[in-house]
Amino acid sequence: MVGIVLSGGKGTRLYPSTKVISKQLLPIFDKPMIYYPISTLMLGGIREINIITTPEDFNQYKELLLDGSQWGLFFNYLIQEKPDGIAQAFLIAEKFIKGKKVCLILGDNLFYGKLDFFRNAMSNLRSSTIFAYEVDNPKDYGVVVLDKNNKPIKIVEKPQEHISKYAIPGLYLFDERVVEYAKSLTPSERGELEITDLLRIYLENSELDVVLVGRGVAWLDTGTPNNLVEAALFLRAIEQRQGRKIGCLEEIALAQGYVAKDKLFDWISSMPNSEYKNYCLKVLDEY
Ligand code: DAU
Repeated sequence: MVGIVLSGGKGTRLYPSTKVISKQLLPIFDKPMIYYPISTLMLGGIREINIITTPEDFNQYKELLLDGSQWGLFFNYLIQEKPDGIAQAFLIAEKFIKGKKVCLILGDNLFYGKLDFFRNAMSNLRSSTIFAYEVDNPKDYGVVVLDKNNKPIKIVEKPQEHISKYAIPGLYLFDERVVEYAKSLTPSERGELEITDLLRIYLENSELDVVLVGRGVAWLDTGTPNNLVEAALFLRAIEQRQGRKIGCLEEIALAQGYVAKDKLFDWISSMPNSEYKNYCLKVLDEY
């Protein structure tokens, strides 16, 4: 399975912080936001990752993340000219995902906890799988309405009425047909190729599976200044208690066996002296 991290958009809700910096490059506590979705893909076993950015931010992403080989990954950078919708990601990445199963994660989605729900969904993928996460503010998200057996009945983007308590996180699994289906979409009223319209195609063909994500997993939002602080405080509380970092790509690369220890040592040695570097060295010592 190949991955896509969609990291475009204007981040207007975080203006002026996002006037000259891409939202997903802003820090959440001790590392850039995009580290977290990349770490989720890595923990799911995905190493070939397409990173989609705006034309303006393209170079900064490349400078930050390089070609991915330092973490045993393979990055391919692509450009979304305008934020014309999440489902456009599949058209932009077409050449690189054709004939493959795809996992799309939004560059501002942060998961913390046991990721078995994700790994199991990948192994059991039939056609497409989304996740459902109970939230207090479902109207702010795409939501899924489930029947008594937790089968999906309806999908709505930011419903005005309360129709379900289940939000759909920005983590989606699709089979090889996703490009073909994405091509059949037309822009919504707000002018976007909507991810929810794409999901609806699978739903109408009875090809959409929904996995409920339990309370043991945190799915955090990073859309507003308040969300950013809350996410940072959440991460800090856990990291300081345990002395272990969340979303440290070097640690995950080592644990997953993606990169050899000596190669990783060279990479870590090239980092400027920092708390992050010290942590990476500690991790290396433990292996
Ligand atoms: O976070 C999960 C939610 O993400 C889902 O529940 C919704 O169904 C989905 O539409 C999306 O809702 P948002 O309100 O968060 O969408 P937003 O337009 O803010 O886009 C989410 C991220 O995707 C954002 O960080 C930027 C990126 N993006 C978005 C669009 C529309 C792009 O890179 N390109 C785009 O064209």
